[in-house]
Amino acid sequence: MPICCRDEAGSLARSRVTARLVAAERPPNLEAILSRRALITGITGQDGSYLAEYLTTQGYEVFGLVRGQRNPRVRQLRQLLGDVRLIRGDLLDQGSVISAVERVQPDEVYNLAAISYVPMSWAQAELTGEVTGLGVLRVLEAIRVCSGISASRSPGRGQIRFYQASSSEMFGMVRESPQTEQTPFHPRSPYGVAKAYGHFLTQNYRESYGMFAVSGILFNHESPRRGAEFVTRKISLGVAKIKLGYERQLRLGNLSARRDWGFAGDYVGAMALMLGQDEPVDYVIGTGVTHSVEDLLDHAFKVADLDWRDHVVTDAAFIRPAEVDKLCADPSAAREQIGWEPKMAFEELIATMVEADLELLSSGGHAEESFGDAW
Ligand code: NAP
Ligand code: GDD
Repeated sequence: MPICCRDEAGSLARSRVTARLVAAERPPNLEAILSRRALITGITGQDGSYLAEYLTTQGYEVFGLVRGQRNPRVRQLRQLLGDVRLIRGDLLDQGSVISAVERVQPDEVYNLAAISYVPMSWAQAELTGEVTGLGVLRVLEAIRVCSGISASRSPGRGQIRFYQASSSEMFGMVRESPQTEQTPFHPRSPYGVAKAYGHFLTQNYRESYGMFAVSGILFNHESPRRGAEFVTRKISLGVAKIKLGYERQLRLGNLSARRDWGFAGDYVGAMALMLGQDEPVDYVIGTGVTHSVEDLLDHAFKVADLDWRDHVVTDAAFIRPAEVDKLCADPSAAREQIGWEPKMAFEELIATMVEADLELLSSGGHAEESFGDAW
C-alpha cells in the first residue's frame, strides 16, 4: 500500500484558517473546532505504535514520520493501526523534517525516533550521535522555523508543543538512588551521551525561545511489541523457543544488572499528559521497583514451567564496554503533579510477554511479525 500523505490543499487550507484565527484572536473553543494533530517520529517503533493508538482514542489526528523507500515496518504498522497517515522523512535530513512539520501543521510533536539499542551505539557511535542527538536539534529547528520563532524571541504563530524521549540511561553510573528529575547525569554509552545532548537542548529551546518543549525521562518499558534485541524480549522469545523445542540454550550477558521495568502501554499516557499541562516541565517516569536480569529469568522461565539454570549460558559477546549497573525511578513528581501512575506490575508484564511469544511461535509466526526485529 502506498504511503498516504495528507494532501497539500488540506494542509494549506488549515494553516490559512489557523493564521486568520490567530490574527483575530483565537476563540476559547478553537481546539474543539479543529481536532488536535500529533506528529510522531519513530512511529514504527514500540512506543510509536502505542502512542499512536493512545492519541487516536483521545480523538487526535495522528501522523507518523517514516524513513526509507521500502520500510518493512510500514506494512506492520498499517495492519496494527489501519489508516495511519504517514509522511516520509528522516532525522538525518533537516529539509525532510521541516517539510513534514509544514505539511502536518501539528499541535504536538513527539520525537521518539532514535537509534535506541545501547550496544549499537558503541558500534556506530557517530551515527548514534547524528540520529539520537542531532536528530533532536533538527526536530526543534523544524518547529522553530515553521512557527516563525526568531532568535530574538519575537512571538511566533501559535505554539507547537514538543515532547522529547529522554532516557534513564542518562543517569548511567548513578549518583543517587532512586533517581529523580534533579539527579545529575553520568551517561555510560554513546547512546546515553546523545540522549543527554537532546535533553539539554530541549531545555535550552524552552529557555531560549519560550517554546513548550519537555522531556520525559523514561525508565525501561517493555511489551510484546518490544524489539527482539532488548533483554526482556530476547528472554520471552528464548523461553518460547525452548518450550516449543526449537532451541535448547539462551545466550546472555550481565545477569546482575538491575532495571526498573514497566509496561510501554502505560508509559505513552505520561507523554501525552506532559504535553497537556499549563507549563512545560520534565518528569521521571518509572515504577520505583527494580529487578535484576536474574529475577527476570526466574519469572519468565517459570511461566513456561522451566528452570532458567538448565538453559542460560553467559556469553562475553553480550557484555558491554561500560555497564549501567542499577536503575530505579522515583516517579513521585509525576504522580503528584500530573496524576500519572503505572498500572501493570513486573510479574504481569513478563507473563504477558512470554505468553504472547508462545502464542506467536506456536502459530508459526516470527519475531519480525510482532513488531520486533530479530537480532
Ligand atoms: P524503537 O522501538 O527502537 O524505535 C525507534 C524508532 O526510531 C523506529 O521507529 C525507527 O524507525 C526510528 N528511527 C531510527 N532512525 C531514524 C531516523 N534516522 N529517522 C527517522 N526515524 C528513525 O524505540 P522505542 O523503544 O519505541 O523507544 C522510543 C524512544 O524512547 C526512543 O527515542 C528511545 O531511545 C526512547 N526510550 C525508550 C525507552 C524504552 O525502554 N523503550 C526508555 C527510555 C527512552 P525504523 O522503523 O525506520 O527503524
Ligand atoms: N540486550 C541485552 N541482551 N541485554 C542484556 C543481555 C543480552 O543478551 N544480557 C544481559 N543484558 C543486560 C544489559 O547489559 C543491561 O544491563 C540490561 O540487560 C538491559 O538491557 P536492554 O534490554 O538492552 O536495555 P537497556 O537498559 O540497555 O536500554 C533500554 O532502556 C533504556 C532506558 O533505561 C533501551 O530501551 C534504551 O533505548 C532506553 O533508553
